[in-house]
Amino acid sequence: MADNEQSRAILDQISSQIMKCRRCPLWEEATHGVPGEGSLCARVMFIGEAPGEQEDSLGRPFVGRAGKVLDSLLTGTGLSRDAVFIANIVKHRPPGNRDPLPDEVTACTPWLEQQINTIRPPLLVPLGRHATRYVLGRMGVEFVKITDISGTVFEGEPFGFPQKIIPALHPAATLHNPRSREHLEEDFRRIGNLLTEMEQ
Ligand code: URA
Repeated sequence: MADNEQSRAILDQISSQIMKCRRCPLWEEATHGVPGEGSLCARVMFIGEAPGEQEDSLGRPFVGRAGKVLDSLLTGTGLSRDAVFIANIVKHRPPGNRDPLPDEVTACTPWLEQQINTIRPPLLVPLGRHATRYVLGRMGVEFVKITDISGTVFEGEPFGFPQKIIPALHPAATLHNPRSREHLEEDFRRIGNLLTEMEQ
């Protein structure tokens, strides 16, 4: 099998296992698991927190209001959804969109780890404090406020191979606080600039 076909088969298998996952109780109230989607050859993977209502009902990541914000930020950066991979740290919706619990993150993130190890994107963009805490935590990096470190480039091997990481604010932040739009646009400008640099 060609490499791409093999990676697609592995990703499809991970997705079907996520749909049946019972490693934590979140599946009980969820409609669908939301494994994530995008390009096998993505140079950048965006990692959100957990599915919301729309995502739960459609089984796809970032298709609700926060997704519209993400889509417009991607367009502004010259990226299309097809060219990137979009996933979450938690694959089933927490009831009422509450924050995922530490035990749920621990139970669920081996799936994300497998996805990252299959796609091997050179750039990771954790969106918001939960995804950022998970990714930077794997490099022993701690932070207090996401606004202090978003847009900063980190380098390391959080998943066992060299990657760059730029945390960004969560797109949903703009829904509660329109002033965070400017901050997010700056984060995405830096993502675009870094991708251009990485291609040279
Ligand atoms: N928020 C997230 O973090 N992920 C989604 O998929 C949708 C909203």
